[in-house]
Amino acid sequence: MGAGAVALVRLALVGLVLDALLVTDLRVASVVMAAAVAPVVLAVLDADPEVEAASRVAVPVSQAVAARSAVQTVSTPRRGWGRRPGSREEVISGTYPGGSGALKPVGCLPMDSLARPVILDVDTGVDDACALLLAARHPSLDLRGVTCVGGNAPVEDVVANTLTVLEAAGRLDVPVAQGAARPLLEHPVNATHVHGLDGMGDLDWPRSAAGPDPRHAVELLRDVLAEAATGRQADRITLVPLAPLTNIALLLRTHPEVAAGLREIVFMGGAAHVGNATASAEFNVFHDPEAAAVVLDAASELGIPVTMFGLDVFYDPRVTREEADALVAGGGRGAAELGGRLIAFQCERFASTSATIGDAGAVCAVIDPDGVRTERLPVRVELAGTWSRGRTIVDRRDWSGDLAHDPHGAAPAMVDVCLSVDAQRYARLWLDALETGEA
Ligand code: BDR
Ligand code: CA
Repeated sequence: MGAGAVALVRLALVGLVLDALLVTDLRVASVVMAAAVAPVVLAVLDADPEVEAASRVAVPVSQAVAARSAVQTVSTPRRGWGRRPGSREEVISGTYPGGSGALKPVGCLPMDSLARPVILDVDTGVDDACALLLAARHPSLDLRGVTCVGGNAPVEDVVANTLTVLEAAGRLDVPVAQGAARPLLEHPVNATHVHGLDGMGDLDWPRSAAGPDPRHAVELLRDVLAEAATGRQADRITLVPLAPLTNIALLLRTHPEVAAGLREIVFMGGAAHVGNATASAEFNVFHDPEAAAVVLDAASELGIPVTMFGLDVFYDPRVTREEADALVAGGGRGAAELGGRLIAFQCERFASTSATIGDAGAVCAVIDPDGVRTERLPVRVELAGTWSRGRTIVDRRDWSGDLAHDPHGAAPAMVDVCLSVDAQRYARLWLDALETGEA
């Protein structure tokens, strides 16, 4: 398929989704998108790989090498915990608890007046729950909304779990919206063998009676981002997807103008080195590889900075069973007790004396970016492959000779890839946020 044909098909794809939006709601749009993506992907898979590769090289090899060299000159050192280049200059870290106390609802920590606006996209999920508790409780974040997608559990369970977590955190003021029930192309697969039958550890925790926002997740994202686009630079939203990227792909293709309200995307998914859903692929990207590829492509086109908090760092920040038990001991059915029970569930499931805070690490990376070491690298998503579909191919080569002779050229999407993490620092950050305050 030639580059022009690919562009035409993309335009047709967006048109189909927009049509669907006009006549019906976004739940239907996601099905239309899936149906429309299928022939494109099949055509791409059927195409001569060399012709296809040539047509997809957005940047000539010589330019790509030059771009890569430029990136290397500004990259953070390979060791150490340096701030990544040109970003996060306004980050508030190490300031909690603090701030004026005027902005959060009763029963929550006072929010810093310079709190960073964030939206989480989740498939709650034991570790998504850990992430929600942190984002809901930490004073340097201003949680503007939570959108839900099918992943670890069916999307209806994800919504119920998310509302239950926010209630425990005293944050039912945060709008929660239901999004895509299934991936664009793949059949849904859940991860109840990891997260329990209800997707959240089968804790027998009282369910929230609250309901979701009436808007589809994509509509909620569109509205919040559109409003952010009209404000100050500091009001731009940091989007934190912790789940299959279906909602975000639909958003960026349907409403690309929302880029003006986005500061950056910090997502949990992928890896430079390892997989978990398969030997090659990480669960969130494996679950909906087309969506992940669309998000990287759209972010690159729209100039949205992307950070990948993948499996290279995901398992490292860990909380011990003793620390979890101490959280639970306080009781009260609040954030601390729920967080402790979630860690304890994982310790039992994996017969371990400690458990990762998982997706919560990506939220830590927003709060305290100096705790991760990143490199800005080209990333592609493998959409074919017998054993490697859904793998994030992170290009770590550093010799221009290799790059110049690579028929694929450099990937257009440049991503700040987290390669190591100060694990104790992030575990402590999570524990402190849950231990502080009564909610
Ligand atoms: C990711 O997949 C899910 O099981 C977790 O919630 C996390 O987002 C890890 O691969
Ligand atoms: Ca998740």
